[in-house]
Amino acid sequence: MLDARNLSVRYGKHLALNDVSIKVGHGECVVILGANGAGKSTLLRGLTSMVPIASEGDVLFLDRHIGGIAPQKVVEIGIAHVPEGRGVFTEMTVDENLRLGANPRRAREGAEGRRKEVLALFPRLAERQRQRVGTMSGGEQQMVAVARALMSKPDLLLLDEPSLGLAPIVVGELFQALKRVRDSGMSMLVVEQNVRASLSIASRGYLLEAGRIVGEGAANTLMDDPGVRKAFLGH
Ligand SMILES: Nc1ncnc2c1ncn2[C@@H]1O[C@H](COP(=O)(O)OP(=O)(O)OP(=O)(O)O)[C@@H](O)[C@H]1O
Ligand SMILES: [Mg+2]
Repeated sequence: MLDARNLSVRYGKHLALNDVSIKVGHGECVVILGANGAGKSTLLRGLTSMVPIASEGDVLFLDRHIGGIAPQKVVEIGIAHVPEGRGVFTEMTVDENLRLGANPRRAREGAEGRRKEVLALFPRLAERQRQRVGTMSGGEQQMVAVARALMSKPDLLLLDEPSLGLAPIVVGELFQALKRVRDSGMSMLVVEQNVRASLSIASRGYLLEAGRIVGEGAANTLMDDPGVRKAFLGH
């Protein structure tokens, strides 16, 4: 599905991403664990050339080279990126946000059917379709962001720290919903600091530290990885 090879990204002299290679298989959920400033957001942006600066490396998506792709084309080739901080339209209702999500050409056909499928994955949103998103809780807004991304009919979903700023109980509910998204067959790449929540839905993961991949493995082995424990679990 996604094969990123030797990605490096510089902001001026600062090397934010250093020779990073990652893969996501069809229907696979992969997590990138990294602390603040490790380069997680830069990596997601680098995959779709949304970095305004020098970058090196090669990105293959569905066996196609997509290096240097124009930002407006990303969603049309089937990549949906839910950025850090969600990027939902807070003045609009849940329903309006979802309908806007179906705006890309690839997503217009069958949008009504997809809306029903997406709402089935997020029952909490189904109950609140007419609510203005700005009045919703952080966890609900994150659900709107993911649901809207799914409306674009992606082949790959990129999620930038979905748990950011959410209370533990809300994180649990959000990740239950993300599990349903995964089980629908969606390919997912999630960057996170919440080790337990993200490894609970992932099959594989990478550990990103100061712009480099310093570890990788099956999700169930990463929880016990000394590097992960040291970086995130305090022992
Ligand atoms: N536009 C930019 N200009 C200059 N430096 C940047 C820019 N964006 C990010 N950086 C730097 O690159 C490094 C990686 O940033 P990035 O946002 O990718 O980290 P992150 O892992 O997503 O962190 P966080 O968990 O805080 O979101 C940081 O040192 C950051 O200061
Ligand atoms: Mg970030």
